Amino acid sequence: MKKQKMAPSDAEDVFSGFPVVLGTVKGEKDNIITLALCHVFSFSPALIGVGIAPARYSFGLFKESRDFAVNVPDVPMLRAVKICGAKSGRDVDKFAAAKLTREKGDKISAPLIAECPVNIECVKTHELETGDHTWFIGEIVAARKREDYDKGKMLLYWGDYRTIGALVGRG
Ligand SMILES: Cc1cc2nc3c(=O)[nH]c(=O)nc-3n(C[C@H](O)[C@H](O)[C@H](O)COP(=O)(O)O)c2cc1C
Repeated sequence: MKKQKMAPSDAEDVFSGFPVVLGTVKGEKDNIITLALCHVFSFSPALIGVGIAPARYSFGLFKESRDFAVNVPDVPMLRAVKICGAKSGRDVDKFAAAKLTREKGDKISAPLIAECPVNIECVKTHELETGDHTWFIGEIVAARKREDYDKGKMLLYWGDYRTIGALVGRG
């Protein structure tokens, strides 16, 4: 079948989804930010990173903080995900606005989100300015997962929110 040429910026629109996470960071005011830019950067050491635009209130907090957490929400948390992705910590306390509960981490000062089935604690190792986002990469120093954690109920995002689809082959 024939292929059409695409504008470079449209090519970023073909991916079927990115994981949705809630980044948390300690600051004068603790904050939560909804993020779809989240990726593994190394298996050994275990590094993950999140991409944050300079305009976000969280940007300065991530820059100043030694550590941050990546909290993985599930489908019932969609309302909270939308609130944390629409409101700014400049104006509101998002723990209160999204009715989320702070939980203490084992090894970091950033608060965790109790309602999220997975919480990953990271100590910042790299800051990578790539363009309109800066990647804050951190080594995973602790992590916890709820007993009923189900990958199939985690959120993916690309314009719409989805969960993972059919299993079509084993790796
Ligand atoms: C599904 C979703 C994904 C998002 N992904 C990102 C992201 O990866 N990086 C980013 O900087 N902003 C992202 N945003 C936007 C921020 O979450 C949003 O601007 C937020 O209000 C910023 O909060 P803050 O000002 O408290 O930091 C996303 C928003 C939504 C709804």
